[in-house]
Amino acid sequence: MLVRQCKNTFIRFIGEMGYITNQMTRHDRTYNETGADFLKEINRQPQEVDDIVARLRKVYNDSVSTEELRADFIEFIKDLDKHLFLVVGETPEELDEKDLDFSYSMENPKTLVDDFTQETKQKVDECTQDFMLEATQREPRLVGLQFELTSRCNERCIHCYIPNPKKNAGGDMPIEKVKSLIDEFVDMGGLHVTLSGGEVFLHKDIIPIIQYCREKDMQISVLSNLIALKDEQITLIKEANVSLIQTSLYSMNPEIHDLITTVKGSQVKTKAAIEKLVAADIPVQISCPVMKANYQGYADVLKYAQSLRCKAQTDYIMMAQSDLDTSNLANRLSLAETEALLKDIMQWDKDYKEDTLRHPPLSEEISFDLERFAKQPLCGAGINDCCITENGDVYPCAGWQGMVCGNVYKQSLKDIWENSPQMKQIRAVTQGDFPKCLKCNARDYCAMCLVRNYNESGGDMFKINKHFCDVAFINKKVVEEYAASNAEKYAMHYEWLICDIYHCKRYGVAAADADIYRRLVSCYFRLVQAQNDIHRNREHECQKEYNEILEEMNLHLKCSIDCIICGKQENYDKLKTLKQDFPLPNIIAINYMIDSLRQILKDEKQ
Ligand SMILES: C[S@@+](CC[C@H](N)C(=O)[O-])C[C@H]1O[C@@H](n2cnc3c(N)ncnc32)[C@H](O)[C@@H]1O
Ligand code: SF4
Ligand code: SF4
Repeated sequence: MLVRQCKNTFIRFIGEMGYITNQMTRHDRTYNETGADFLKEINRQPQEVDDIVARLRKVYNDSVSTEELRADFIEFIKDLDKHLFLVVGETPEELDEKDLDFSYSMENPKTLVDDFTQETKQKVDECTQDFMLEATQREPRLVGLQFELTSRCNERCIHCYIPNPKKNAGGDMPIEKVKSLIDEFVDMGGLHVTLSGGEVFLHKDIIPIIQYCREKDMQISVLSNLIALKDEQITLIKEANVSLIQTSLYSMNPEIHDLITTVKGSQVKTKAAIEKLVAADIPVQISCPVMKANYQGYADVLKYAQSLRCKAQTDYIMMAQSDLDTSNLANRLSLAETEALLKDIMQWDKDYKEDTLRHPPLSEEISFDLERFAKQPLCGAGINDCCITENGDVYPCAGWQGMVCGNVYKQSLKDIWENSPQMKQIRAVTQGDFPKCLKCNARDYCAMCLVRNYNESGGDMFKINKHFCDVAFINKKVVEEYAASNAEKYAMHYEWLICDIYHCKRYGVAAADADIYRRLVSCYFRLVQAQNDIHRNREHECQKEYNEILEEMNLHLKCSIDCIICGKQENYDKLKTLKQDFPLPNIIAINYMIDSLRQILKDEKQ
């Protein structure tokens, strides 16, 4: 039996922890101990399972028999094979056949509005993202590196945060320097390279740079307006298996788009390039920041993206320029315009709607464990990510060019990452530095961020502009109004209560904690309520099936509560058998119950 990584997966190690991610399905997993040992043995070359087991045998000495080790390893790889992280088969040809390329004809999260849910039969330490966040918080680790390869640009967008004098001065980072930085990034354990500008396709070596990133096993994203993209580059980009090309399309009306870019004919070129990339099965994401000139046409851009099976996203806040000049904000939406746009988004952007309605309310998370939340960073800038511009200056993120952390022509990237006082300053900022936000009930709808604060306030990252708050409250109002007037509120209700349970697990609160009982019992009643509501109000295609699932879950929850309360071994066993073949939310809930119960039984035995 042979095994190898899928071409869309990447494996990294953070200390003792193994990490595998798939750029196509966007699923990832973390492993400790044995899982990490297993992962270390797998790479892009097909390998005989027995050879790997023989190597592992040496790692474990005689602590486990070869048969047991083989069985465990096969279970491990088969599960990862089933979830598209690895390919397992009898011949190299079979592996190639099973290893799927990105394609618009196939359902995956980059093409369809409905996202995959992450089924995790194999034990994952915790919610992966939280786990990663915590691991890197303890020890900041550069995972994502953005290059502004050139400051030159073939457009002069009216809203752009990059000052025009910088574009006019021009300047490209030579390929030799880019390569040496990528080498350094590889040594630091880096994963994701974003190539941007200015306009990245003005860099004469953009294709060799992309190819070098591939050679170095990087996950690659490209940000571009695409107007300089040449046909012959498309095949090479496909061959390099880039994770994503994000491009800016501001309107379906060429005059409006061109008014924003200030380049006549630019919309036609960008649109044609998007269609060519899609035809070549390269993942494209449309970015459409909105401003006064184009907000009324955003729904049309969304529909266009959907017709191509691409994702689209917007930014309706707009960041001030990186030289702290705020004149570009004259194009920013008023609050009334923002509200009109948000209503359009709620109507047309299924992704946004699902995200907003399904997401566990952050405010609940905060109130559940305020102390822990207050210690968290606001984002990954300086913790997982940073940006290097063409002249070698390093910043915590794109757009934060007032916060120079060092220069890669004078110091190594590693030195800047580890020792720069500015990086350390950014890392020290936590949610707790914004006490007003910790208590704010628009928190779930807010996009406040350090660089936006900094650029708009003349250089104070802690100064929140009132506009961000006003927009957050409008967003909250629009979402709540939408939820109240739509059957979706029931789905939201349902999802949130699943998340309640999920949170309990994520926060690792002791199962014996009275608060958990309270929450579980409350979940149980809310579930019954939600079920009744759905039954009465929801016109659902799969109404019967949906109700059946809910009923099942209802049963499990009740059974689980009984189990936990009386702590009986037979109930625990019963619960374990019930676990088989249920949809994800049930699995999460049941897993949690099992973990809690196991803990209770363990405590009792001691
Ligand atoms: C700086 S550009 C660089 C890549 C490329 N030149 C492009 O326009 O796609 C990256 C993205 O930032 C967006 N952007 C520029 N200025 C912005 C601002 N002030 N606020 C928010 N987004 C902005 C652009 O519209 C574009 O989608
Ligand atoms: S948004 Fe992109 S294309 Fe427009 S001026 Fe800025 S860098 Fe150039
Ligand atoms: S709306 Fe204002 S106060 Fe509330 S979380 Fe956002 S920035 Fe903080």
